[in-house]
Amino acid sequence: MKTILITGAAGGVTTMLRPLLRPFYRLRLSDRVAVPSPTVDEDVVQAELGDLSALRRVVAGVDGIVHFGGYSREADWATIHDANIVGAYNVFEAARLEGVKRIVFASSNHVVGFYPRTQTMPIEVTVRPDSRYGLSKAFGEALGSLYADKYGLEVLSIRIGHVLPKPFDKRRLAIWISARDLAQLVRIGLEHPEIRNQVIYGMSDNKRAWWDNSNAFRLGYKPVDRSEDYAAEAIAADRDTTGDPRADLNQGGEFCIAETM
Ligand SMILES: NC(=O)c1ccc[n+]([C@@H]2O[C@H](COP(=O)([O-])OP(=O)(O)OC[C@H]3O[C@@H](n4cnc5c(N)ncnc54)[C@H](O)[C@@H]3O)[C@@H](O)[C@H]2O)c1
Repeated sequence: MKTILITGAAGGVTTMLRPLLRPFYRLRLSDRVAVPSPTVDEDVVQAELGDLSALRRVVAGVDGIVHFGGYSREADWATIHDANIVGAYNVFEAARLEGVKRIVFASSNHVVGFYPRTQTMPIEVTVRPDSRYGLSKAFGEALGSLYADKYGLEVLSIRIGHVLPKPFDKRRLAIWISARDLAQLVRIGLEHPEIRNQVIYGMSDNKRAWWDNSNAFRLGYKPVDRSEDYAAEAIAADRDTTGDPRADLNQGGEFCIAETM
């Protein structure tokens, strides 16, 4: 069984992913805070993403890294810089120095959040970040490109939509992904022999999608969950109108107007 490091292992998404990945991998879990309820098979190592020496010890000996640690909303520059810019750099650099080849990186739809909702987009578009947070995720994708081309790392960046038990508004009907569909994408990122530096969208089988996810389908992704099953409820909730056209007309929603969250 391969050993996989999950960063941000105390977070909401990784807490959903852990039971879905445990049958396939020995998990090493890392976060700056205590990881809730580790099983006897899970190895927990507390580490700060800003500390490269500590990260080198954390990544040493693993077969792959699922880098989900970092600041997951909009924030002031110092917060984003330390967690997502320096943090992501340190993870890629620690992997290079310790000879770990595979990284699955939690990118975000907010890399392209200022594209209008009327546009269906392939993955190869110029980034239009909607926030300092989205900008930091574009930096993470670019790190994947550099470390793949220059050092031979194999990197899958997933522009995750929104991971939730179910989509709760119109915007999420387009971008929602279930935990089990995301776990499938993470496993593709860890296992697929053709990964060099790929970027894909992280969404379920969503009828109202704004993204062309051909790159993911080419890698064998077969989403099993559909946002449309929740459409009536999500539309009735009508939760995602702010009155500001930047948020209401663009894909990133409230991230397009928020300064902190
Ligand atoms: N939640 C979503 O739907 C979604 C959508 C798109 C992208 N993402 C990305 O997926 C990842 C997980 O998202 P989440 O919602 O579970 O976030 P989360 O905030 O719940 O978890 C992030 C974890 O990273 C840890 N962390 C933050 N800064 C750190 C540091 N400096 N050193 C060590 N650990 C640090 C936190 O302690 C936390 O446990 C994030 O990278 C996020 O940007 C999430």
